[in-house]
Amino acid sequence: MTDTKQITAPLIARSQCLVMGNWKMNGSMSFNNQLLNDIVMGAASLATSAQLVVCVPSPYLAQACERLSGTPVQWGAQDVSVHTKGAFTGEIGAGMLTDFGCRWVLVGHSERRTLHAESDAVVAQKALAALNAGLTPVVCVGESLQERDAGLAEAVIKRQLAPVLALGAEAVMRLVVAYEPVWAIGTGRTASAQQAQDIHAVIRRLLPSSDHTPVLYGGSVKPDNAKTLFAMPDIDGGLIGGASLVATDFLAIAS
Ligand code: 13P
Repeated sequence: MTDTKQITAPLIARSQCLVMGNWKMNGSMSFNNQLLNDIVMGAASLATSAQLVVCVPSPYLAQACERLSGTPVQWGAQDVSVHTKGAFTGEIGAGMLTDFGCRWVLVGHSERRTLHAESDAVVAQKALAALNAGLTPVVCVGESLQERDAGLAEAVIKRQLAPVLALGAEAVMRLVVAYEPVWAIGTGRTASAQQAQDIHAVIRRLLPSSDHTPVLYGGSVKPDNAKTLFAMPDIDGGLIGGASLVATDFLAIAS
């Protein structure tokens, strides 16, 4: 698949640290109100120039759009359909996400790959659907514990990324990759900075440009390990689950 003619998403530079929150299926109007307020207030006095993004459940995109418009904090969704529109009950099209001011969307999170049987090919199609709507897809990849123990971590990452890389350099320079080892998600067991860097280096070598396509690390990132992880040469920021639901932790990770 090399038809990238319709891509309208912007190029994404690696120069700015990117700290993205993935709220997963958490939140409520009142909880979000407090959390978004606290993040916006804290973002104003952040010592770093990290770009903050929150990926909220889709019903709350309007709330995020209203609260975050005009602030430095951006927002995104957690999934997108491969289709533009039509008889796809329950699906959400990329154009619908841009209607609510989204700039970002996660695709291929391990929870979607596992619980919804999303294949590598479908994840690449979702990335392309996002790019064509002007959204930046964050393509999540990562091996399971069983795969790591079998020495297959690199092979799994390469297999997961292959159809995404086949979209072509113009597409790949407009997306973000997030390396999230499944065994480190929600377990409190973070990959060591060196373990993460080793895989990030593998991913970086597959990418078409050293200036574009940030590669984020995700999996039990907390205020006390973020600095060490983000200091690694091929780690360009983080995709944060649990800690992104606590404003002080999310802000501390970005500071
Ligand atoms: P935790 O930070 O809770 O481990 O979740 C990581 C994640 O899955 C982010 O997408």
